[in-house]
Formats: sequence, C-alpha cells, structure tokens
Amino acid sequence: MLRLQSALFLAYLVVRSVAADDFTPPNCSLDEHCPEKYPCCSVYGQCGTGAYCLGGCDPLMSYSLDSCAPMPICESKTYKWENLDNAATNSEYLGNASAADWVYSGEPKIEDGNLVLTMPKESTGSLFANNHYIWYGKIGAKIKSSRGAGVVTAFILLSDTKDEIDYEWVGSDLAEVQTNYYFQGILDYDNGGKSKVDGDNTYADWHTYEIDWTPEKIDWLVDGDVVRTLTKESTFNESADRYEYPQTPSRMQLSLWPAGQASNAQGTIEWAGGEIDWDSEDIKNQGYYAAYYQDVTVECYDPPSGAKIDGDVSYDFKDDKGLESSVEITDNKTVLASLGATGLDMDLGSNKTSSSGNSTGTISNSTVPQNQGGTGNVVGSTSGGGSGSSNTGSSGGTFSQGTEDTTDGGENAAPAERVLKGSFFAVLVAVVVLITM
Ligand SMILES: *[C@@H]1O[C@H](CO)[C@@H](O)[C@H](O)[C@H]1NC(C)=O
Ligand SMILES: *[C@@H]1O[C@H](CO)[C@@H](O)[C@H](O)[C@H]1NC(C)=O
Ligand SMILES: *[C@@H]1O[C@H](CO)[C@@H](O)[C@H](O)[C@H]1NC(C)=O
Ligand SMILES: *[C@@H]1O[C@H](CO)[C@@H](O)[C@H](O)[C@H]1NC(C)=O
Ligand SMILES: *[C@@H]1O[C@H](CO)[C@@H](O)[C@H](O)[C@H]1NC(C)=O
Ligand SMILES: *[C@@H]1O[C@H](CO)[C@@H](O)[C@H](O)[C@H]1NC(C)=O
Ligand SMILES: *[C@@H]1O[C@H](CO)[C@@H](O)[C@H](O)[C@H]1NC(C)=O
Repeated sequence: MLRLQSALFLAYLVVRSVAADDFTPPNCSLDEHCPEKYPCCSVYGQCGTGAYCLGGCDPLMSYSLDSCAPMPICESKTYKWENLDNAATNSEYLGNASAADWVYSGEPKIEDGNLVLTMPKESTGSLFANNHYIWYGKIGAKIKSSRGAGVVTAFILLSDTKDEIDYEWVGSDLAEVQTNYYFQGILDYDNGGKSKVDGDNTYADWHTYEIDWTPEKIDWLVDGDVVRTLTKESTFNESADRYEYPQTPSRMQLSLWPAGQASNAQGTIEWAGGEIDWDSEDIKNQGYYAAYYQDVTVECYDPPSGAKIDGDVSYDFKDDKGLESSVEITDNKTVLASLGATGLDMDLGSNKTSSSGNSTGTISNSTVPQNQGGTGNVVGSTSGGGSGSSNTGSSGGTFSQGTEDTTDGGENAAPAERVLKGSFFAVLVAVVVLITM
C-alpha cells in the first residue's frame, strides 16, 4: 500500500513536471518494427519504453524479439474482490506480477464482493488485465454483463502476438453470449459463434462462463455445459502449413467498452446493436454502465509436450513465427527497473544508472501508452477512460472529448470497418487509428 501511495504521489509529481510532452510515438507493425531507442510495440501499435514493454508488447513488431520484457508465468489462483490492492495502473506497474496481479484503466470498483467495471457517460469504459500469462489452462468467472445497445462486456484471453479467445456480450442481446477466436489477429469471419444463455438475461442473472484451453482444443462452457468446442486439428491451414489456433501465452482480460460509440466505424456500431444511449436508465440511475465479475479463477495446465523448459519464472519468444514452438519457459526476470527500461536493458533507471535530473523513466508519452479504457481511448478523457480520474498518471486529457476526431474518423474508417467485428485487438488498433487522424 505504501508502495502504491508513493507511486501515485510520484506519478502526480511527474505529471506536473512533464506537462509539455510533444513526443509522438512511432507506429509499429509486422512490416515496420520499432526503432532501437523506443523498442517496444504496445498493443496499440505504437513504440516506446517502460509500460510499452509489458503486457501486450508484441515481440513480432518490436525492435527485436527480446525488446519486450519476459512474460510472468502462469499462476493458478482464485481472485476475491475485497479491495483493489492487487491492481495497479499501467504507470505504476513495472512487471512484478507478484506485487500486482492486475493492471487496469478506467474506473473499476468493488461492490458487495464483486469487481464492477464501470463506463461513465462519454467514457471509454474500463479494462482489467491479469499480469500472469497463461499458456494453456482454464479460466472462469461468474459474470453479469452490462446492457444496452452499443455496450459490450468481455471476458477474454489475449496473447502478445494477438492470439485471442473471447466471450463477448452485446448489450442489445441479453439472451446470448458470443464466442470467438483469432490466430495472430488474422480476421476470419467464420470464427465467431453465439450461444443461448438460460433465462435470456445475461444482465440480470449470474452465470458461470469458462474457457478451457488445451494444446488440442478449446471448450467454452456456460454454467458447466460445453456450448462450443474448437479443435486445433480443425484450424489447419494447408497453404500456410500451420495450425491457425490460439497457442501462445495469453493474459486474461475483463472489460467493458463502448463499441457503439458514435465515432466508431459503422460495422462496429451495427455489430454492437446500435449507438450507445448516454442518457439511458443505467446512466441516469447510477451514473455509469456496469458489468459485474465474481470468483474469477485461473487453473494453469502443464506446458505442451515438447516445450522448451529452462526455468520457471517467465515465457519468452525464441523465434518470430509466433507459434507454440516459438515459446520457451526460462528463469528470465520480468521486472523493469523504471519506465525508461526495456527488455533490452531491464535495469536502466535503477539506482546504479539513474542520476537526478535525468528524466529517463518518468511518466511520459514515450513510457506509458496513452490509449486506455475498455479498449482504446474512443471518447477521450484520461488514460483511464473515466472522466477525470487523477490516479492514472500521465495521460490526462490527451484526446479530450474527442469530438474533432470523431467526424473524420467516420470517413476514414473504411478499411477498419470490416475488421471491427469481434477482435478486441482489432478494435484497439482501429480505435487508435481513428484517434490519431
Ligand atoms: C502526449 O502527447 C499528446 C499529443 O500527442 C499531448 O497532447 C500530451 O500533452 C502528451 N501527454 C503527456 C503527459 O506528455
Ligand atoms: C501512425 O499512424 C497513424 C494512422 O495511420 C498516422 O495518422 C500517424 O501519422 C502515424 N504516426 C507516425 C508517427 O508515423
Ligand atoms: C532468457 O534466458 C535464456 C537462458 O535461459 C537466454 O538464452 C535468453 O536470451 C533470454 N531471453 C530473453 C528474452 O531475455
Ligand atoms: C515483487 O513483489 C514481491 C511482493 O511484493 C516482492 O516480494 C518481490 O521482491 C518483488 N520482486 C522484484 C523483482 O521486485
Ligand atoms: C491460409 O493461409 C493463407 C496463406 O497465409 C492465407 O492467404 C489464407 O487466407 C488462409 N486461409 C484461411 C482459411 O485462413
Ligand atoms: C534506491 O532508491 C530508492 C528510492 O528511489 C531508495 O529508497 C534506496 O535507498 C536507494 N538505494 C540505494 C542503494 O541508493
Ligand atoms: C539519461 O540516462 C541514460 C542512461 O543512464 C542515457 O542513455 C540518457 O541519454 C540520459 N538522458 C538524458 C536526457 O540525460
């Protein structure tokens, strides 16, 4: 707690002192890797150091395979919600998953032993991402989804190379839950599925949703019943000569986001059941849309047979194919000494290397990605996606209110539009594109 408070205070001071930061993060993609100075490609497709190198850092788009920090290994655990002590914002978290199980943005809160992800009026919602990676395992939670057109609740696994296994609830269709998967973020319209949920009201009723992920198959279970199975076998792509199956270490993420925000691409808004009503009953009565999570569990499975095991601390990528065979388990540490550090120099900014007056490692646009919230920063506001929460560090007001972005976002969004159906990652990137235009 002390650590957290001093971190917050530090963050506050830093924000005060680097008010003018005109750094524009370089973009990154599979074709255009990050430069050595800002080696880490964040999940938003932008290069930097520090938080850019932690959860979501894509080794295949970064300067080199070891630019991202190693990924903390799986830990079987049941999460209870008495407080948010085990959660940190991305300007506080430096890769020690034992000290903080989760990173979050937006305005999560605890109520009656539940984790509540909130989405206040005109905000980008909330994201709660686990810091321990899972390389096969079973995750589960009791969830009450949010409701209303354009409001999407999610419970997913997402790898740094964009393998993804999803549950998503579209707030205009409370009788069903959607299931989906992606391999390396490649869009395939045939991957999605829908399942009826007993009682036809995912908002009013608690249900248990589980993803059982093994090297051979994925089962999606609702209240203990398998509602969908995907075998690895069925994903073989002959021309690519590979299984296009989620197979790399992934983080569990819980989120609530405004897919139906007016500035989003038309395809997304339609998928989400229409535009969000920011004057809905929920907004009027409680000030926010909300999704509820309880008894979140992780059960780790053994690494796949044939895995290269050289320790028990972290996962690393040892080649750039992004396949199961690219992953190894090592004793490499996962913690950065400062926000200026990267996988290439994890100790940068520790007492030994830092000197007063050198701003390496403070909170800035090059050390903490801006785009936060349930997905990306659609509507504006702080890094939190909330309105004016001051504890999220540097990103205050970057996209404030986002109205200018919205108008041309619509026209320019054509290519993104088709992509924007279910992939959490795709939405993130498209949203960033809209914002930066
Ligand atoms: C980050 O960059 C944006 C412009 O891209 C700027 O408006 C903002 O002030 C910067 N934020 C910080 C904390 O430096
Ligand atoms: C990054 O990509 C966006 C969208 O394509 C573009 O508007 C922006 O100028 C690019 N930024 C840089 C630094 O190249
Ligand atoms: C991790 O450790 C292994 C040895 O166990 C080493 O060969 C490798 O370079 C390290 N990888 C990274 C990304 O640090
Ligand atoms: C990580 O956090 C734990 C718990 O707070 C602490 O015991 C450990 O020393 C930390 N490890 C590093 C490398 O900072
Ligand atoms: C199979 O892989 C090829 C080559 O990468 C790709 O063009 C094609 O779209 C893939 N097929 C499917 C069904 O994903
Ligand atoms: C390192 O820095 C921390 C705080 O920044 C301080 O508490 C600690 O005493 C320093 N250690 C050394 C050896 O200077
Ligand atoms: C800060 O220190 C790092 C390494 O200690 C160095 O690479 C960097 O150039 C310094 N930056 C400034 C602004 O002095």
